[in-house]
Amino acid sequence: MNTQQLPIEIQKIIAARQQEFSRLEETLDQKGGFIAADDFLLSDAVIAIALGKNVLLKGPTGSGKTKLAETLATYFKQPMHSINCSVDLDVEALLGFKTIAQENGQNTIEFIPGPVVKAMDMGHLLYIDEINMAKPETLPILNSVLDYRRMVFNPFTGEVVKAKKSFGVIAAINEGYVGTVPLNEALKNRFVVMEVPYVQGDVLKHVLLNESKLHDHRLIDKFVMLSEDLITQVKNAQIPEEAASIRALIDTCDLATYLPPLRAIQRGIIDKLEEEREKAAIMNIASTLFE
Ligand SMILES: Nc1ncnc2c1ncn2[C@@H]1O[C@H](COP(=O)(O)OP(=O)(O)OP(=O)(O)O)[C@@H](O)[C@H]1O
Ligand SMILES: [Mg+2]
Repeated sequence: MNTQQLPIEIQKIIAARQQEFSRLEETLDQKGGFIAADDFLLSDAVIAIALGKNVLLKGPTGSGKTKLAETLATYFKQPMHSINCSVDLDVEALLGFKTIAQENGQNTIEFIPGPVVKAMDMGHLLYIDEINMAKPETLPILNSVLDYRRMVFNPFTGEVVKAKKSFGVIAAINEGYVGTVPLNEALKNRFVVMEVPYVQGDVLKHVLLNESKLHDHRLIDKFVMLSEDLITQVKNAQIPEEAASIRALIDTCDLATYLPPLRAIQRGIIDKLEEEREKAAIMNIASTLFE
């Protein structure tokens, strides 16, 4: 992404934030970063974060949401604290917990900050993964963190935590996935939503060349065609969406460096599925592409 093309005010905000965190700098490594199909996805996400908006990345499994969040953190040169939501997620996993510590031979109670408090205190980024996996009653504690107040009452210390200006939030959801619950409207309302679909065509080729061990362009082209066919099958409701996951495709390409492609596809994609009909549909497509 060319920073020069962004509005000047946004460039200024970014420069200030990059400077603030330059001590912790990791060079922005283009290779290995997120590659967007849509020219505006990265720049819109950067603008939203620079403006202090919370960004919700919405897309199927293995579409690069976590990779995009990491790429954004690298871009802003800001460390990122992560939360993996599950039904067991509780306030302690978000805010932190109290423990007994030793000080000069005396037992004292110490508060160990969790990812939300750390990110707010230090003005870092917070990544909330699979936000729709959490129990609906746990997340409302974040409502005040996610709106203009940018603060939270910490019941473990009795203090109000106020976020530093550069604090930012990126969350990810995989809608409709098993175990997920619809995101509460008030929570969703606090985010700017960005769709992260599976990339296709030349962009996918670029991702496979960057991320997998396979370097045979002829084979990679066939895997790109396979992916296109799988996505068509997903759209026709013949196979589940995760069968077209780019993560699974990268695993398959890695295996295909050493195994015959059809066996790689069997292990990387087909054997993850439950239904014989779906397995046969994919094997059918694969056999026409790879003999
Ligand atoms: N557009 C992309 N650019 C770069 N890498 C990508 C892209 N899409 C997928 N990948 C690669 O696919 C793999 C899975 O990506 P990632 O873990 O970010 O997916 P995700 O959307 O977070 O999945 P999940 O919902 O299961 O957590 C990674 O190796 C990542 O590098
Ligand atoms: Mg992820």
